[in-house]
Amino acid sequence: MEAAGVFSGSGLFYWLGLLTVAYFVWRVLYHAVNGVRLWVLGDAHAVGPHLGAWAVITGATDGIGKAYTEELARRGMKVALISRSQEKLDQVASEIREKFKVETKTIVADFEDQGTVYDKIKEGLEGLEIGILVNNVGVSYTYPEYFLEITDLDKVIDRLININVLSVCRMTRLVLPRMLERSKGVIVNMSSFAGHKPFPFVTLYSATKAFVDFFSRGLSAEYKKHGVIVQSVQPYLVKTKMSRIRKVSFLVPTPETYVKYALNTVGLESQTSGYPSHSLLAWVSTNLPKWYRTKLMVDMCLKARAHNLRKLKEN
Ligand SMILES: NC(=O)c1ccc[n+]([C@@H]2O[C@H](COP(=O)([O-])OP(=O)(O)OC[C@H]3O[C@@H](n4cnc5c(N)ncnc54)[C@H](OP(=O)(O)O)[C@@H]3O)[C@@H](O)[C@H]2O)c1
Repeated sequence: MEAAGVFSGSGLFYWLGLLTVAYFVWRVLYHAVNGVRLWVLGDAHAVGPHLGAWAVITGATDGIGKAYTEELARRGMKVALISRSQEKLDQVASEIREKFKVETKTIVADFEDQGTVYDKIKEGLEGLEIGILVNNVGVSYTYPEYFLEITDLDKVIDRLININVLSVCRMTRLVLPRMLERSKGVIVNMSSFAGHKPFPFVTLYSATKAFVDFFSRGLSAEYKKHGVIVQSVQPYLVKTKMSRIRKVSFLVPTPETYVKYALNTVGLESQTSGYPSHSLLAWVSTNLPKWYRTKLMVDMCLKARAHNLRKLKEN
């Protein structure tokens, strides 16, 4: 009799309703507990000199790269800074030596030029015990545009592939063998929210960042059991020259705040948004219907494109 009650029309709805509520309660609890684990507790000890004395950072003189450099120096690591301008490198390196009392090294390299740059970097890193490599350098185009209408398209294709994609592979190729010999090390690769889902009108940038994400997650699975952690970091907007956002807000942190949170997720997440509100945005974006998410992005980018074209005409 009782079994008949459970499977009767109203009984079935009762159990379906209960299961649905239990599922959502479980999801909310899971996200709450995971949020506390990542963003409140974090792991401030996963990255430090115990991995190896040196941290190597590409694109180290500005924005997110500079913030990683400072935070790693604050944790007592010696830092090797790589970017294009010796003057900027000297300035940032001297600030760091003064503030954190750690050794620094600078290497001038333009990742757009794939010719001799890696021989030069290899020479510069010779003999260093590298605990962490941050493949941060990355560029985009100045405003959202149809692929075929990007100014100097051939040059832009080479530029984005060389800087955003090739640098990550070649730098990893240089540093990973020694990490494996020592069975420890961390490689942090800067992807982007634009590498999480296809982002129209910054399509080429978005695709290079998807490459970085796939490359990182694949490597993570290959080398985790050999002691090397590889992490894909996918920020939304951060207040830097590249984002051209000048105001900090709930959704747009400074690079320093962003990196403080992101570094504490190393070892806890192999793919991370790096920051609490960015994690929330990623969750919302993942749960929106695909057609609606694409429409939102297309509308937003077309608006930004029109604004930029207007400004270009005025100047
Ligand atoms: N900012 C954001 O909202 C955001 C969001 C998602 C992902 N990201 C990713 O985060 C990373 C850092 O972005 P960011 O906003 O911090 O950039 P940024 O403020 O523009 O800084 C870029 C850094 O890279 C160096 N650099 C640029 N071109 C280079 C080249 N050809 N060779 C060597 N170094 C070069 C720059 O120094 P020099 O000019 O002196 O060489 C500078 O130190 C990028 O990979 C980006 O895709 C950023």
